Amino acid sequence: MQKILSHSKLFRKPILNMRPYVAPIERRTGRDYLLLDFNERTIPPHPLVLEEISKYINKGNLQLYPEYGDLNEVIADYVGVGPQEVIPTVGGDQAIDIVTRALAKDGDTVIIPRPTFAMLEQAARIQGASIVSPRYRGSNLEFPFDEVMQDIKPEVKLVVICNPNNPTGTPVPKEQIKLIIERASEVNSGVLVDEAYHEFAPELTAIDLLANYSNLFVIRSFAKTLGVPSLRAGLVASQKQNIEELKKIRGPYDVNMPASAAMKALRHQTVRDDIKKYVDEVMKVSKPMLEDFYRKNGIKFFPSSAGFHLLEEPGLYDFLRQKEGQRILIRPRSDPPGTVRVSLGTREDTEKYIEALQEYLQANK
Ligand SMILES: Cc1ncc(COP(=O)(O)O)c(C=O)c1O
Repeated sequence: MQKILSHSKLFRKPILNMRPYVAPIERRTGRDYLLLDFNERTIPPHPLVLEEISKYINKGNLQLYPEYGDLNEVIADYVGVGPQEVIPTVGGDQAIDIVTRALAKDGDTVIIPRPTFAMLEQAARIQGASIVSPRYRGSNLEFPFDEVMQDIKPEVKLVVICNPNNPTGTPVPKEQIKLIIERASEVNSGVLVDEAYHEFAPELTAIDLLANYSNLFVIRSFAKTLGVPSLRAGLVASQKQNIEELKKIRGPYDVNMPASAAMKALRHQTVRDDIKKYVDEVMKVSKPMLEDFYRKNGIKFFPSSAGFHLLEEPGLYDFLRQKEGQRILIRPRSDPPGTVRVSLGTREDTEKYIEALQEYLQANK
């Protein structure tokens, strides 16, 4: 007789003990919502990006395995490192995954300040690592630098810094990152700096530290400003020897060809200029406009260096989702309790959102 094997005997304990990361991603499109919930670019990518993707599709080579050509050269040039110091990945998510898998195993400790992007913790949990989570703190949700430094002990294999942090928007000064990297290297630990929101705060980048620190891994995403989260495109930048190790973990064809074509569109200065134009509208028009509105109307927001705000306004999510006229999706957060995260978009998006906020205030204050 066939033995019935319990799934709890089959799967590794860390997997059994964790829950999937379920994002509220379904049924967002097709209802004319203004989407301010996933920190996406609120307008389509530049036409040249679409043209590069179409060119690939029209070549009629879907039946062939990927051939990346000069993808590494193009993205390395965009990031400002050498072609051998970068590896393209299936979104920022896979970048996080391969670095975590390379460095942390069952029983090791990973430091991940909280609250932060869920996939950072998810990757560490899959490995069975213990997670130490100093908290962003104070009325501005500041980065817990002193605690991170104190927590770097011999059992630590990876320190994760999200800069600027999602969902708080907190910037981490480069001087602090440098000190963390130096302390981490004393205990043979790596440091993963998640720069998914890099374009919104380019001055914070740790890329220029790569030359001097062999335990630094910087990850990026092409979801937020190039605007192709649907295709999944990201990268890890690190010293050449580290990239050689990461190549053993990422599959040789993991990155799909439409994603590769979209990334390669970064060879065009026009595409880079378009990213800058979008980011400037978000950070120099929409952000100050909204912060002014929040201040005048007593809506508590946390200072943000990224293309979104965290607000203490728990009732806003339901109101915006259900209201008459233009409905808007934002992201409710359980940590910190009673907060919502609202993506910043174009001036036009912001005007619509402010109109909705006025209705909310009339109804609630
Ligand atoms: C901080 C952070 N890191 C990484 C990612 C993942 O990026 P991608 O969508 O390219 O996988 C996100 C996406 O929201 C993020 O917010």
